[in-house]
Amino acid sequence: MIYTLSKAAHLVTLFVWIGGMVAVAVALRYPVLSFLKQLKTYDRVVTSPAMVAAWAFGIMLAVQGGWFPHSWLAAKIFLVLVLSGLHGVLAGRLRRAAAGTTDPEESGRLLLPIGLVLVALIVLLVTLKPLSRLDARCVDPAASNAAGARGSGTRRPRRGASVAGDNYFGQGQDAYARQ
Ligand code: HEM
Repeated sequence: MIYTLSKAAHLVTLFVWIGGMVAVAVALRYPVLSFLKQLKTYDRVVTSPAMVAAWAFGIMLAVQGGWFPHSWLAAKIFLVLVLSGLHGVLAGRLRRAAAGTTDPEESGRLLLPIGLVLVALIVLLVTLKPLSRLDARCVDPAASNAAGARGSGTRRPRRGASVAGDNYFGQGQDAYARQ
């Protein structure tokens, strides 16, 4: 239950964070000074705290689910760091544009598509968990069960490992089971 609630909170705070970033990127493309000033306050009061909360809930999920040894999470955290940096760049440009110290038209047109590609890659990483197949310590339970049924021990989980708790899908499955 706590795992599911943490995931819900992770997703809600992500929507607020990414939505805020998209708003800034679009506002810099089509600048209206009064709106840029409002958006600067919104970014400070809503979007930035949502980013911090999304990080916090993501880390809570990783701890609860025992996901840290999985390569997909390392790759995801790297991309999230880049996305957080992109938010910093957008917030800086927004501050300068709202203060009228820069020409908003010049504010990078590529930032929005770069951000959206990053979001797509992050979501693909967390849903497909592709790199887990490369993690030597992760075992596909379906394959290992089939191998076990055939009498071959090659893909079986190592001795002492619970199939639900130490497998290709990570201990997140256990977190569900414990609810
Ligand atoms: C450092 C920050 C982050 C960490 C540590 C983190 C970690 C996690 C973990 C451990 C899960 C649970 C995976 C599962 O139960 O299968 C999760 C779920 C998810 N995360 Fe993150 N995350 C972070 C940031 C992000 C960002 C920036 C995005 C999107 C742009 C994102 C998108 C998602 C989605 C869509 C899910 C649900 C996946 C599913 O249930 O299949 N996360 N995150």
